Amino acid sequence: MKHLLKLLDLSRDEIVELLDLADKLKADNKAGIPHPLLKGKTLGMIFSKSSTRTRVSFETGMYQLGGHALFLSNRDLQIGRGEPVQDTARVLSRYLDGIMIRTFAQQEVEDLAKYGSIPIINGLTDFCHPCQVLADMQTVREHKGRLDVNMCYIGDGNNMANSLIVGFLKVGAHVSIACPASYQPDAQVLDFTRQYPGQFFMTDKPIEAAKDADVIFTDVWASMGQEDEKAIREQAFAGYQVNAELLAVAHEGCMVQHCLPAHRGEEITEEVFEAHADEIFDEAENRLHAQKAVLVACMK
Ligand code: CP
Ligand code: NVA
Repeated sequence: MKHLLKLLDLSRDEIVELLDLADKLKADNKAGIPHPLLKGKTLGMIFSKSSTRTRVSFETGMYQLGGHALFLSNRDLQIGRGEPVQDTARVLSRYLDGIMIRTFAQQEVEDLAKYGSIPIINGLTDFCHPCQVLADMQTVREHKGRLDVNMCYIGDGNNMANSLIVGFLKVGAHVSIACPASYQPDAQVLDFTRQYPGQFFMTDKPIEAAKDADVIFTDVWASMGQEDEKAIREQAFAGYQVNAELLAVAHEGCMVQHCLPAHRGEEITEEVFEAHADEIFDEAENRLHAQKAVLVACMK
């Protein structure tokens, strides 16, 4: 695998291989068996948005693999003052062995890969969040023993929804989405779902999407960069909360997942969040293991 730009680019087999490697790295990490597979290598981490999990798990992951990670805020880089991404890509390719980038436009990530000569890893754009969804698939397989589950997503048709739909369809899950009509997933993703007739269902009624779910995902109503739309989004998403009523129609033992940060009382109730906290923090932990697999696959 050269880059991880979006899950649309990966085959089912590539996804499963990454998950198998993530499981192995996790087990060995717990057993204290080191894997210095990226000894002497440096990852640059460009952030144009905030981060807790992505930043800390990538930096720790690189250290555990014997390499080094550099935190590069766009506020400090010349890219934040308008230096073209084509030039940044070619310069950083001369120093680094890989780049992880969190930014707004997916095109910026694609351009880094086009103009640079080192692996590029997408650490979230407005379009998608592939690293998160690899960790999500790892967590679901750990808890359910399989990937062909009934996966349900409630809320905004945002970066998380886009990656969850693509990733889970590719590995054989049945995918049900509930979102308001004016907040549907990206058109490119909806086009992609046409390759999976009978495996994808979209509605504006959460209770319909949650029926018989094995795992329910949700995410914030206003993503990073949408802070100005907070009030209007609170109205639009008022009925899109993961709560006890919704879980009552899901399969017994239904998991709840949230990429975090969570807004209790908005997209998820405090009660549901705390009842499923172990699963949600396993999901957060798996960011580390899944990303180490991505780093090894791209940079070794
Ligand atoms: N889930 C996630 O990507 O978290 P951060 O924004 O903290 O990196
Ligand atoms: N949809 C959220 C995900 C955060 C990890 C955002 O983009 O802010």
